Amino acid sequence: MCTMHDLIKEVLVTEVQINDICVRLGKQLTEDYKNTPRPIVLGLLKGCVPFMSDLMKHIDLECEIEFMDVKSYDGTQSSGDIKIRMDINTSVKDRHIIICEDIVDTGKTLDTVVKLLKHRGAASIEVVTLLDKPEGRVIPFTPKYIGITIPKVFVVGYGLDYNELLRNIPYVGVLKESVYMK
Ligand code: IMP
Repeated sequence: MCTMHDLIKEVLVTEVQINDICVRLGKQLTEDYKNTPRPIVLGLLKGCVPFMSDLMKHIDLECEIEFMDVKSYDGTQSSGDIKIRMDINTSVKDRHIIICEDIVDTGKTLDTVVKLLKHRGAASIEVVTLLDKPEGRVIPFTPKYIGITIPKVFVVGYGLDYNELLRNIPYVGVLKESVYMK
């Protein structure tokens, strides 16, 4: 029987590495925001779910969590057209926002979301991302908190999908080209 794991060419970030990243970034955020009142950790659905859930357990601060659903990908390509499918449920005016993302690729999603939150009067906005794919950048964007930098390959697992599937793989892996060349 073929399992999800048979669709993976190579494991890029293991479960152990992911755990170490969450501990490290959680400590860093705890230190950096220790004097900041009630920051909002804003997850970008749906890819942020496993990462945000693990990361927030290591943020030792009083913080709120919120979500937005922003869609840009179609198959293995960024459509470049960012749609906000679900907006944040609270005012960001004068609030300190930590955007939590699974991966930064072209930078278009974060550029759009950061501009929107600035326009709405957020006091500060930083980004924490599990993965950074700098070779994919179309718009200059440097996230402050990065789990790990990866090459320009299409990855799935730990929240990242291929056409909405494979998000539940517990590690980050490179998808076999044969899966999307069909
Ligand atoms: P950007 O707007 O191109 O920076 O893309 C950000 C979004 O694209 C991420 O939140 C993911 O949903 C998606 N994405 C980018 N690269 C990958 C990938 O390698 N696998 C799966 N989704 C990806």
